[in-house]
Amino acid sequence: MKQENLKALLNSLTLQEKIGQLIQLSGDFFAADQLAVGPQKKLGINQEIVQQVGSVLNIVGAEKTKSIQETYLGNSRHKIPLLFMADIIYGYRTIFPIPLGLGATWNPALVEKAYSVLAKESSAAGAHVTFAPMVDLVRDARWGRCLESTGEDAFLNAKFSTAMVNGIQGDFSPEESLASCVKHFAAYGAGEGGREYNTVDMSERRLREDYLPAYQAAVDAGAKLVMTSFNTYDGVPVTGNEFLLKDILRTEWGFEGVIISDYAAIQELIAHGVAADDREATKLAIEATTDIDMKTACYAKQLEPLVNQGEISEKLIDEAVWRVLQLKNDLGLFENPYRSASKKREDHELLTPKNRELARKVTSEALVLLQNKNDLLPLTPNKDKILLVGPYSDNPELIGLWAVHGKKEDTITIKRGFETYLNSEFLSQTAGCDLLSDYQFLGEFGATKDVISQIQMSDAEKVRQLEKATALAKDADVIVFAMGEHTLQSGEAGSRTDITLPAIQKEFLAELTALGKKTVLVVISGRPLVLTEESEKMDAIIQAWFPGTEGGHAIADIIFGKTNPSGRLSMSFPYTVGQLPLYYNEFTTGRPLDSKTHSGRFVSKYIDSPNEALFPFGFGLSFSKVEYTNLSLSSAELTENKPLEASIVVENKANRATTETVQLYIQDLVGSVVRPVKELKAFQKVHLSANSQQTVSFTITKDMLRYYTKSMKFDVETGDFNLYIGGNSRDVIRAEFILK
Ligand code: BGC
Repeated sequence: MKQENLKALLNSLTLQEKIGQLIQLSGDFFAADQLAVGPQKKLGINQEIVQQVGSVLNIVGAEKTKSIQETYLGNSRHKIPLLFMADIIYGYRTIFPIPLGLGATWNPALVEKAYSVLAKESSAAGAHVTFAPMVDLVRDARWGRCLESTGEDAFLNAKFSTAMVNGIQGDFSPEESLASCVKHFAAYGAGEGGREYNTVDMSERRLREDYLPAYQAAVDAGAKLVMTSFNTYDGVPVTGNEFLLKDILRTEWGFEGVIISDYAAIQELIAHGVAADDREATKLAIEATTDIDMKTACYAKQLEPLVNQGEISEKLIDEAVWRVLQLKNDLGLFENPYRSASKKREDHELLTPKNRELARKVTSEALVLLQNKNDLLPLTPNKDKILLVGPYSDNPELIGLWAVHGKKEDTITIKRGFETYLNSEFLSQTAGCDLLSDYQFLGEFGATKDVISQIQMSDAEKVRQLEKATALAKDADVIVFAMGEHTLQSGEAGSRTDITLPAIQKEFLAELTALGKKTVLVVISGRPLVLTEESEKMDAIIQAWFPGTEGGHAIADIIFGKTNPSGRLSMSFPYTVGQLPLYYNEFTTGRPLDSKTHSGRFVSKYIDSPNEALFPFGFGLSFSKVEYTNLSLSSAELTENKPLEASIVVENKANRATTETVQLYIQDLVGSVVRPVKELKAFQKVHLSANSQQTVSFTITKDMLRYYTKSMKFDVETGDFNLYIGGNSRDVIRAEFILK
């Protein structure tokens, strides 16, 4: 629609109709017969309001969305189509690894492809907007939503943020794209103690340097929407936070798109204690330019009286509605309210062999080989007798909490993956133990006692499984344990204070490892777990995240050597939960471990744990041995007009081709404020054929050295810098240069 027609449309709306555009309700309000009395009653709104609502939450499926749209438009005076928004986080029907796994690919270009598949599949199913990417930087593995983040580093997260938005929005053609809603703005990943929905309080410097870059990257890439986060920042909940929403997002970054509250976050301003009632909450949110109220009756009931009583100007409403109408127009909904929803397209686009193939590739790059003592892996197929055991050994729950449209029956289990490599006489499999000792928490998700008792292994079954597994293990050469968290132990509201493997699995693991066989542990989890004991016991460990639809294939591809693992952690794995928050780019402190002035006890350390990570940021093994030598700089000085070239020789000393992620870190030695011990500034994924070497070069520019100085200017300061290159954040070679 032309801009002048859109303007005319806006001008033709009554105040109530305008407000409708700013309300989002869930799909249950739009039941086919239109009379979803239950949810309306709960929210205290009537059918008239429902009929004017501008967008729908979490309804997908071509036929369903089309029918809702058709009925809605049939009853609508102004004929403004509904927007369908949904959580399509890391795959619609073809499920990719969880974003923490995607982070471990260090391959934004590949992840962009995954997100365009996600967009293609879900556009066929009638979605217009996805609430992705989630780009919250996270340093605390207790937080369940680590699962949705690409990790702990601002630079790497920003790269993925751009890639994901590009993948989702593409060229914005109806059949290839959705509108992207970046979330949760801002700093939602920094909740105190890793506790869900908890307070966030940090300096503006830290906010800008570490937490904001990934959101800004999404906005710069053209993300059409931004979702506010549940947390406070500096005492003000984000949904009513003018500093974040107006000063930074709208004014500094020039964001003209739609801001939507997170689920019920406007009303939660009351529980936060900054609004006395719905009316005050509404006023705070709209004044902060939160355009859409997700899932409360605040805007529906309070905006009109606020305008009529002169407490807010109608102009605020007009501006918000204009942004919503623009979005609908950008999506082409006025011309075609169904966009590209079609049953036929669903039949053709979902879970195609090509999509599966991509998922398998992405997953292979996401898996991280954490340990491989005596080069146990890869295993030669049909040579050793293998016992595949553990609650995930033949379990289709490999897609994780936020893959709501994925289907278990599509998922390749680890057993199925193994079967493609092994003749039956070389493979035995059994669960061996239960996933958890107690499933009572499922009651919170509506499971009845009966259902829980069906899920849980009976005592007799536990005994039988242990006996069976022990007998099979005695007969095996190698035991592959597939273990990890329950799907519901990570994701939203999945904060934990104990992030080890569930006790029942640890006990089982101890029983079987006592047999002295060769052992491999495949870890399924939505977060970095504490794997300290396992790293002592196991020969090999593969971090497999929730690997998605093609998980079983990708895991088997690595175990049997078809793929040489290349994943690198994008989040540190701690020795113990007590180290959290843990991240590689910390400050030195006045008394670092290697302090020259203090010794013994009085340095910054724990007396019962190392400071560093068990498996650090950037870490991951392959089946090859790669050596870094000859780091050289083109000059000892960097000037405004003369960038530096840093190069290093990377040599693959193995008889097998490999992919190495060459990582470059910089440390500003003396600043006007303290600077991190090192910061990732560049990386390259390079392919090295067997027994070959390559010189890898990076250009260092002055811009790479910018930071928020003492005066809060994003600036550079002259002086000495360390430059590090290596295969992870710990094992690096150092050089130094001066910025003149
Ligand atoms: C989550 C968001 C999600 C929204 C809509 C909220 O609880 O925090 O990430 O997009 O629900 O489902």
